[in-house]
Amino acid sequence: MATLAIAGGTPLIAPYRHRSWPDITEDDRRAVDRALRRGITAGPNAPELRALEEEYAAYVGVRHCVATNAGTASLHAALAAVGVRPGGQVIVPAYTFVASALAAVHQGADVVFCDVDRRSFNLDPTLLEALITDRTQAIMAVHIHGEPADLDPILAIARRHGVPVVEDNSQAHGIRYKGRVTGSFGQASGASINQSKNLSGGEGGLFTTDDEDHARTARRMVLYGEDVLPEVVRPYWSHGVGWNYRGQEMVCALARSQLRRLEEYNTRAQANAERLTAGLTGHKGIQPPLPSPNGGCSYWKYALRVCPEELGFEGDPRDLRDRVLYALRGEGVETGIWQPQPVPAQPVFRRATQVWHPRTDAVPLRRWDRSAFPVASELCDITLNLGTVRHPLYVQDPALMDDYIRAVDKVMANLDTVLTAPVEYSPRPTDTPC
Ligand SMILES: Cc1ncc(COP(=O)(O)O)c(C=O)c1O
Repeated sequence: MATLAIAGGTPLIAPYRHRSWPDITEDDRRAVDRALRRGITAGPNAPELRALEEEYAAYVGVRHCVATNAGTASLHAALAAVGVRPGGQVIVPAYTFVASALAAVHQGADVVFCDVDRRSFNLDPTLLEALITDRTQAIMAVHIHGEPADLDPILAIARRHGVPVVEDNSQAHGIRYKGRVTGSFGQASGASINQSKNLSGGEGGLFTTDDEDHARTARRMVLYGEDVLPEVVRPYWSHGVGWNYRGQEMVCALARSQLRRLEEYNTRAQANAERLTAGLTGHKGIQPPLPSPNGGCSYWKYALRVCPEELGFEGDPRDLRDRVLYALRGEGVETGIWQPQPVPAQPVFRRATQVWHPRTDAVPLRRWDRSAFPVASELCDITLNLGTVRHPLYVQDPALMDDYIRAVDKVMANLDTVLTAPVEYSPRPTDTPC
């Protein structure tokens, strides 16, 4: 049996085997250079920004897109557009990135967390209806890891209660739910195009909607409450509170160029994920992601579960997962943990009052009760990802996936060593109290 790299053996995979992300091509360089030579570097009517808005809206199949400076800003704009107001409530899955929930806080609303589905990590529609109150002003459907949330039941429940749905499409650009591209299902949608996303401009966001009024609200949100007008003379006339959330010209030039290759990247990630799943299915103690019955997935994260009960491991499941991760890293696998705990466990959502200043240390924390979100909590404890922000599946060689499978085999065949070897590095923060 080959010796694990963490025990002095040779790593299976050399670092140069990985291709890094974003994948910057000559076309991308030319696109950004074109924007620079034009000399228009910013503005709500800047040509690359406007062109990206039109091209992305057409791609998603909606009438309007507003480019923003971040995905979080686009989600804030989406919530404001559909009518979320201070004092309202927004339902958000407990397993997501904190920004999905913070967007509601930015709009002065309270977040009501919903536990997630064990297979998909997405909001569990069977728990949704019980959370709706007369204060619910939006439901946020996040497409986690790039798999669309189960939109049919979510939209049906929302319709029954007259509550709008906002999609967080940050991880699922170009992915279809029952044949239709995500970002077109909710009354409005927000999405990140930051460095890690399958559509990347380096940093930025894209708001989409079919609704003219929602688009106007979003445009005001990104420009101090002013209307974005084509006139040369700006009237400086703010209709309501707004921010400077404008998208940026060079970002939009890069994202436009990347959009042309989005489908190619998604196809590559899917083929790599299928290869991994075929090679990892049936391995004791390891559970690859189970494919969605409703369509595709971008595999922004390829989420692998390490199952303690199958391995007879009786300690803290996080220790098992972390040790497996550590051993995989030793073999040269790019792997990490995306969410070490559910979002409601984070201090910002456990303060006794909703506070706006980041220095909130004096405000007492509510006790974190993981039994309120049993599925999200368990998934956070047992999941690791194959591929990382810098080295996701979109651009990797299929042969590398075969070596990932070999690395998992090697690590699982040496579980005794994995569980006893000294760990020189902890993959998750040690000061999280949950
Ligand atoms: C699901 C989700 N929502 C929101 C965001 C926030 O986007 P941004 O970092 O562009 O503000 C991200 C990305 O970081 C995300 O993955």
